[in-house]
Amino acid sequence: MSSFKRLADAGDLTGKTALVRVDFNVPMENGLVTDDTRLRAAIDTVQTLRTQGAKVALLAHFGRPKGERVADMSLAPIAGAFAKVLGSNVSFIADCKGEHVKQAIADLDPAGVILLENTRFYAGEEKGDPELAKEIAALGDIYVNDAFSAAHRKHVSTAVLATLLPAYAGVNMEAELDALDKALGTPERPVLAVVGGAKVSSKIDLLKNLVTQVDSLAIGGGMANTFLAAQGISVGKSLCEHDLAETAREIMQVAKENNCNILLPVDVVVAKDFKAHAENRTCATDEVADDEMILDAGV
Ligand code: 3PG
Repeated sequence: MSSFKRLADAGDLTGKTALVRVDFNVPMENGLVTDDTRLRAAIDTVQTLRTQGAKVALLAHFGRPKGERVADMSLAPIAGAFAKVLGSNVSFIADCKGEHVKQAIADLDPAGVILLENTRFYAGEEKGDPELAKEIAALGDIYVNDAFSAAHRKHVSTAVLATLLPAYAGVNMEAELDALDKALGTPERPVLAVVGGAKVSSKIDLLKNLVTQVDSLAIGGGMANTFLAAQGISVGKSLCEHDLAETAREIMQVAKENNCNILLPVDVVVAKDFKAHAENRTCATDEVADDEMILDAGV
């Protein structure tokens, strides 16, 4: 059983404010959320905390504004979208720190919910800046992380706040950690892990560790291209970290030494353009033309 604090351990939170890191990095088009899965995923944690008596101040990032205020990366439109799925009012304030934010939280009704602005509008967020962390931590009494999909980032809102406030896993984080424990802590073998995403570079340590733990590792997404290219397979114009070929080969070597079977796509869907309805074809991984890009694994 993994050891971390769960919401049930937080007890009565009447009069307290929970700073809750959620992943609201949702697909948007023309200011409208086109897939609200991540918003709906946050409901259980928010409602649990409200039932325990807390006010909820939500922290989230959107896109990669790199420490700048980028108007179309504001979380403002997400507050309304979240209110809709939550079925109650969600306030919004265009900052993450300061007396006015503290006041906005104080002004909330008991069990009120407020969404703070994109954490990545602050340059200190991605640097894990202790000063920014202190200012954000001053807004709440406890910290809850429910953003498993952003938890690999050592940012203020995903990591540093947990060192400053009593920290708890949200409902989704708890489920993910329990599942991980089941798969990697005391697994029933054989274990197959499936990883994807654009980049190997952000997951090198994870991959190196996984290949020592599991029996097979299936790699998909853009990452697979880097592994294919590292084996001398031409991936055309595909998303690929060519400079990480050596790292990919190292990971494959560690896998071999640990009897972990790495599974890569054997056929792929390719197109000349990355756009909706682009003409495409399925071919073997070693048949990708120079002007084509891999956009999916074969089916
Ligand atoms: C995601 O959408 O994958 C997560 O929110 C993480 O976003 P990031 O890769 O910009 O940190």
